[in-house]
Amino acid sequence: MEKVVVLNQTHSRHPLLWLIIVFQFSLLFFSAFSAEITARKILKDKSKKSPKVCLEKTDEKVIINNGLVEVTIEKSTGHLLGIKYKGIDNVLETENDNDNRGYWDIVWDHEMYDKLATRHVIIITQSDELVELSFTRVWNKTKDHGISAPVSVDKRYIVRRGVPGVYMYGIFKRRKYFPHTYIHQLRIVFKLKEDKFHFMALSDTQQRIMPRREDREHSHCQVLAYPEAVLLTNPINPKLKGEVDDKYQYSIESKDNKLHGWIADHDAVGFWIITPSDEFRTGGPHKQDLTSHVGPTALSMFVSNHYTGKDIAEFYKERVAWKKAFGPVLIYLNSATFDHAHRYRKSLWKDAKKRLSKEIKSWPYSFAASKDYPHADHRGEVSGQLLVRDKYLHKQLMKAKSAFVGLAAPGRAGSWQTEGKGYQFWTQTDKAGRFSIKNVRRGKYNLYAWVHGFIGNYKLDRNVSVHTGYKKNLGTLIYDPPRSGPTLWEIGIPDRTAAEFFIPDPNPTFVNSILNHDDEKFRQYGLWDRCSDTYPHHDLVFKVGASNYSRDWFFAHVPRRTGNDTKATTWKIKFKLQEVNKSGKYTLQMALAAANFAEVQVRINKPDGSPHFTTNRIGYDNAVARHGIHGLYRLYSINVPGKRLRVGNNTIFLTQTRCKDEFMAVMYDYIRLEGPAV
Ligand SMILES: *[C@@H]1O[C@H](CO)[C@@H](O)[C@H](O)[C@H]1NC(C)=O
Ligand SMILES: *[C@@H]1O[C@H](CO)[C@@H](O)[C@H](O)[C@H]1NC(C)=O
Ligand SMILES: *[C@@H]1O[C@H](CO)[C@@H](O)[C@H](O)[C@H]1NC(C)=O
Ligand SMILES: *[C@@H]1O[C@H](CO)[C@@H](O)[C@H](O)[C@H]1NC(C)=O
Ligand SMILES: *[C@@H]1O[C@H](CO)[C@@H](O)[C@H](O)[C@H]1NC(C)=O
Ligand SMILES: *[C@@H]1O[C@H](CO)[C@@H](O)[C@H](O)[C@H]1NC(C)=O
Repeated sequence: MEKVVVLNQTHSRHPLLWLIIVFQFSLLFFSAFSAEITARKILKDKSKKSPKVCLEKTDEKVIINNGLVEVTIEKSTGHLLGIKYKGIDNVLETENDNDNRGYWDIVWDHEMYDKLATRHVIIITQSDELVELSFTRVWNKTKDHGISAPVSVDKRYIVRRGVPGVYMYGIFKRRKYFPHTYIHQLRIVFKLKEDKFHFMALSDTQQRIMPRREDREHSHCQVLAYPEAVLLTNPINPKLKGEVDDKYQYSIESKDNKLHGWIADHDAVGFWIITPSDEFRTGGPHKQDLTSHVGPTALSMFVSNHYTGKDIAEFYKERVAWKKAFGPVLIYLNSATFDHAHRYRKSLWKDAKKRLSKEIKSWPYSFAASKDYPHADHRGEVSGQLLVRDKYLHKQLMKAKSAFVGLAAPGRAGSWQTEGKGYQFWTQTDKAGRFSIKNVRRGKYNLYAWVHGFIGNYKLDRNVSVHTGYKKNLGTLIYDPPRSGPTLWEIGIPDRTAAEFFIPDPNPTFVNSILNHDDEKFRQYGLWDRCSDTYPHHDLVFKVGASNYSRDWFFAHVPRRTGNDTKATTWKIKFKLQEVNKSGKYTLQMALAAANFAEVQVRINKPDGSPHFTTNRIGYDNAVARHGIHGLYRLYSINVPGKRLRVGNNTIFLTQTRCKDEFMAVMYDYIRLEGPAV
C-alpha cells in the first residue's frame, strides 16, 4: 500500500525518479513473491501443527490430551493421577494411592496436614488450542472446621496445544470470618516413577544419579544428626556408598529456583518444574527452599518456614480477608534420542533451560483465565535509579551497581524477607544503578532495596500504588546506609551471607558428591562440627591487621562440642587503636546473616560481667542445620562510648550464649568498628 502512495505522489518526470519507481515496483513484486513463500511455509507449518487439545470425562476422571501428553486428573479431588508421555504410560508413581502422585498440600496450625482434595470441577476453557479446568473447594465452617485448612481452594490445570506438559496454578482465599491459622507450608508435590527417574538436575553443576527411596530406609543407611540427613551405608547403587543424602542440601534461593527435575535414563525422558516468575513466592528473592530430592520427588514450593522461621506465617489472622494466586508453573516433559547417557542428559537439560527462557519471555501468560491472574495489560511498571551516599567512602554519590530492588507490601525497611501475604516484584540494577520492574500487579507497595557492599536496608519513604497501565519513573533515589563515622576496621563483605568466610572441607566420611564445586561447599553435611576441629584448644581469635577473614573467621558461630555436650563459645576480635577520643561516640556495626535460637552478647575490653550489648534471643532460621549460607538478615548498630576503648590493644568479645544443641548459632555477615563522626 505504501508503495502505491509513493507512485501517486510522483509528479516530476526526473529520470532518477523513474528509477526509484521501477525500484519500488520491483520491491512490490518481490514482496508479493515472498509473501507467497511465507504463506506456503505457514500452510506447511499448519499441516505439521500439533493435534488439537481434547477433553474426555469418565465417572472418576478427566483426561486432557494434546497428542504430546495425556494428563489425568481425579474428578472428586483434583489430584493429578497421571501424565502419559512418549513411551511412559505414567511418569508419576502408579504404585502410590491417588492422593500421593501429584497433589497440592498445606501444613497448618499445629502439624495439621491437608492434601486439599476439592469437591467440584468446572471447565473454564475448552477449545482446540487449550483446555483449562478448575477444581474447587469452598471452606465450610460447619463441615470443615478443625478438619481442613481454613482456606478456599481453586486448583487450575491448563493443557495447551503443542506444549508437552501441564500448567498448574492455584488461587487460595480466606474470608474475614475464617478462624485464625498459621500456614507453615503450601506446595505442589510430584512423586515420580521410582523405577525410571534416577538422575536429578538442579543446576548446570548440581546433577547426578540419586539414591533410591529404599536407600533411606533403616537397613540401608544411618540416620545422622536429624532424620533428614542419612549416611548411605548399603545403597542399591554401590557407587553411592558412604555418601550423605539430605533434601536440604538441594535448596535454592527463590531468585534462582526456576528449573529443576529428573531424567528417566532408559527412556531418555525429562520431567521438569519450570517457574518463570517468583512474584507469588514468599520472603523475597533470597528466601531459600526445597527443590527436588530422593523419592524421586519434585516440589513446587510456594510457602514455607524454611530458612526464615515462623515470622513468615504470621498474617493469616482472623478478620483479615486474603487471596493469592500461586503459579502458574509449567510441568514440562521432554525427550531426546537415546544414545549415550552423558549426551542425552545434557541435551534434555539444555532443552529444559531453553523452555524456561521461552516461558520467562511469555510471562505474564496471556492464556491463564483466572481473574486473579492479571495479564500484561493489567499490570504496571516502575523504574528509577538508585545511588548510594556514604561520604566516608566517597565524596560523590555512588551508583548502586547490581543492587536488588523490589516492590513488596508496605512495611518497615527490610520487612520483605518475612512478607508472604502479598506479591513481590524484584529486579537487579545495572552498572549505573538503573532499574525497571515490569509486570507489577495492581496494588499498594513500598519500594525496597539492598546494595552489595553496603549494610542495611533501603526503603523509599512513600508508597507506590500500581494500577493498570501504570508506568512510573521514580527518578533518582538515594540510599544513606547506616554509618556514624569512618571505618577503623571491618571483617567480611556486606552481602547478607557468610559465603566469604572460612568454610571448612567436610569431614571425608560425610560428603555429598553432588556438591563438588567450591561455591556449593557450604551445603556439605556436618560443617558445624568442623569448628571444634578447627579450634581445638581455644575459641576463635581474630587479629585485625594480621588475620584474614577468608581463612580465620569461621562461617558460623556455633557452640563447642565437648564429648556429648555443647558449650557456649566466645570469639575475640583484637585490634589496636593509635588514639581514642574518650568522649567520642564509636559504633560497632554488626550484621548477621543468620540466627537460630541464639543470643550474641558483646563485651568490650572485659571478658566477664554484664554485657555491653545483647541481641537477646533471636532467630528460628535453622540455616546451619539446613546447609544455608544465610537465613534472615539482621543489623545491629551498637554504640560504643570512647571511654570503653583504650589506646593500644583492645578486645571485643562475642559470646554466643545459647548452646543446648549444635544448631543454636549465628552467622555473621559483616562487622565494622566506626570512629566518631568527623
Ligand atoms: C456447609 O455444610 C453444611 C453441612 O454439610 C451444609 O448444610 C451447608 O449447606 C454448607 N454450606 C455451604 C455454604 O455450602
Ligand atoms: C503508606 O501505606 C501505609 C499502609 O497502607 C500507610 O500506613 C502509610 O501512612 C502510607 N504512607 C505514606 C507516606 O503515604
Ligand atoms: C586472604 O585469604 C584468601 C584465601 O586464602 C586469599 O585469597 C586472599 O588473598 C587473602 N587476603 C589477603 C589480604 O591476604
Ligand atoms: C555419649 O553418649 C553415648 C550415647 O548416649 C554414651 O554411650 C557415651 O558414654 C557418652 N559419652 C560421654 C563422654 O558422656
Ligand atoms: C571528641 O569527641 C567529642 C564529642 O564528639 C568532640 O566534641 C571532640 O571535639 C572530640 N575531640 C577530638 C580531639 O577529636
Ligand atoms: C598488644 O598485643 C600484642 C599482640 O597482638 C602483644 O604483643 C603486646 O604485648 C600487647 N601490648 C600490651 C601493652 O599488652
